Amino acid sequence: MRVLVLHGPNLNLLGEREPAVYGQATLEEIDARIGERARALGAELRTFQSNHEGALIDRLHAERRWADGVLFNPGALTHYAWSLRDAVAAVALPCIEVHLSDVSKREPWRRTSVLADVRMALCAGLGLDSYLEALELLLEIAPGPERDAEATVALLTERLAHPEERGVLAHELAQILRRSGRFQWVGLYDVGMEEVEVRGWSGPGPPTHPRFARTEGLTGAAIASRRPLVVQDVRTDPRHLPTLEGTRAEAIFPIVAPSEVLGTVDVESANAQAFTADRVRWLERCVDALAPFWGAGGT
Ligand code: DQA
Repeated sequence: MRVLVLHGPNLNLLGEREPAVYGQATLEEIDARIGERARALGAELRTFQSNHEGALIDRLHAERRWADGVLFNPGALTHYAWSLRDAVAAVALPCIEVHLSDVSKREPWRRTSVLADVRMALCAGLGLDSYLEALELLLEIAPGPERDAEATVALLTERLAHPEERGVLAHELAQILRRSGRFQWVGLYDVGMEEVEVRGWSGPGPPTHPRFARTEGLTGAAIASRRPLVVQDVRTDPRHLPTLEGTRAEAIFPIVAPSEVLGTVDVESANAQAFTADRVRWLERCVDALAPFWGAGGT
């Protein structure tokens, strides 16, 4: 993936500019760190800084066919330069807005962002790490699911047509969903009268809680509401019951038979804000195709 990083006015003075607010790192150091991370993740990077609104727009236009996505810190232009919003809309590239400082906790005028309705996500308040978090998030969400929903549904349906031992089948279904959608972890759970129990999972490790009360955690809340539950940053939700270290965003999809919840699908990402509306719709279609796994009454 090719990523364009745009820095706006005054960011060329990072290091000496208000270090208590923006940190000690210079722009060169920041670009070098983003570059290192991009190389490690197999992405290509181009970076550009300007103190001029038009120059940022020109560069975005010039790179629009090269880039697959944009990390954009427009500096103070964020708060009033509407032509930047139109430029991002015009090139129609996935864009993540980045700020070193937490603009929501500073002067009220910094709370307006011209990019608010055209960006995919906002990473702010972490200093240099805002850029690194934004890069990782962009690489996960920008290309959309690796396979389109129809192709994934076809794979799941095909696998379901050849049932074998339930644990093996659950593992393989979870694996198809995880790989096709580029998620960090996927688990299929059976929901009983009292307890929820993992049937199969795919990801870097087993769930910390393979079995828990059906009222507990985010899963408990999704079961009670019978609706999908998406939490974009689990650190802000006290109901979160950690499944895997490093999870930042989680989505739970209950499988509802006419009168009861038979199972759940738990999908986890290492990146906060990873569940864009498109990806949730994609997941809903795929999870619907998984319903026969529970419908067969194999719990
Ligand atoms: C900034 C926040 C803006 O409000 C400010 O004008 C900047 C830097 C940041 O990265 O925190 O120049 O974009």
